[in-house]
Amino acid sequence: MKKVLVITYSQSGQLEEIVTNMLKPLEGKVDIHYKKLKPVPAFPFPWTDMTFWDAMPESVKMIPARVEPLDLNPMVNYDLIILGYPIWFLSPPIPLTTFLKSGQAGQVLKGKPIVTVIGARNMWVGAQEDIKKMIAENGGILKGNIVLRDRHHNIPSVVSIIYWMMTGRKDHYLGIFPKPGVSDKDISEAEKFGGPIKEAILDSQYGKLQNELLELKAVELEPNVVSMERKAKRIFRVWAGLILKKGDAGSKDRIGRLKIFKWYLLFVIFAISPIATILFYLTYPFFFLSIRRKMEHFRGVEIRYSKQSA
Ligand SMILES: Cc1cc2nc3c(=O)[nH]c(=O)nc-3n(C[C@H](O)[C@H](O)[C@H](O)COP(=O)(O)O)c2cc1C
Repeated sequence: MKKVLVITYSQSGQLEEIVTNMLKPLEGKVDIHYKKLKPVPAFPFPWTDMTFWDAMPESVKMIPARVEPLDLNPMVNYDLIILGYPIWFLSPPIPLTTFLKSGQAGQVLKGKPIVTVIGARNMWVGAQEDIKKMIAENGGILKGNIVLRDRHHNIPSVVSIIYWMMTGRKDHYLGIFPKPGVSDKDISEAEKFGGPIKEAILDSQYGKLQNELLELKAVELEPNVVSMERKAKRIFRVWAGLILKKGDAGSKDRIGRLKIFKWYLLFVIFAISPIATILFYLTYPFFFLSIRRKMEHFRGVEIRYSKQSA
């Protein structure tokens, strides 16, 4: 039987539910080994205010922390590896970065086809670019990507995700905000992606996989959200550098700057982002071709992001 290794990190279990549903068509046809990344110490869930913001600099600058090594039998040769992850501050979550920068990742990923599965709010493209690079550095070959996201409007979804992250409750904040995260419908329908993955693994042919996944709407992009995210990521890098100058994760000395970042970010989301969206659509016709090229790239699994398409 062909063998699939599934490596996930998920705090609420949302991502794991997505991946389990997605792999239902493979059950009984291939041997599936699930492994969860366990950071040491664990990140809190629900989060407290400052621990949440304190995860920003290391996430953005992709500074590894500690995870328990995965308990893997080196004699088992996997045919496909699935990496499932949420997004933290437009970046890969620290536990996955830590794994991908560990020696073990090289041993596990080298020469293997990889499929990534993302369960996010709505801003994930920059993180996936980082992940593409880290997979390649480990000798893995990205063959597919599936993204499930919160489909609600950007602003209410920010409110509802903060509520979810701070309380652990995935329900309607104040009875009026949308349910946070990926919808129950999308989570249960994730099963549809398992078909092409099953065919690819059974035939050992991954060349058409991403196109088949795209036909099933595995990656849906909103160009104005992508544009906002890309600008924000550049600014996050500057903030992360400024905060890191004050100390490492958990340092009391950086709390002041973290608080300023928090209020800056909330101001940008609530006051600036609606204006940025209007400007985006006003100028859309002038940038149509370059936006279309970028979206094409983010839908795909290629690593190189050439100057031409930037
Ligand atoms: C610290 C932190 C930062 C986050 N930043 C983002 C983000 O930048 N973009 C995004 O789409 N989702 C973001 N999210 C939401 C996650 O992508 C994810 O949907 C949520 O954490 C649930 O994932 P889980 O499977 O780990 O429970 C963030 C979550 C956390 C905890």
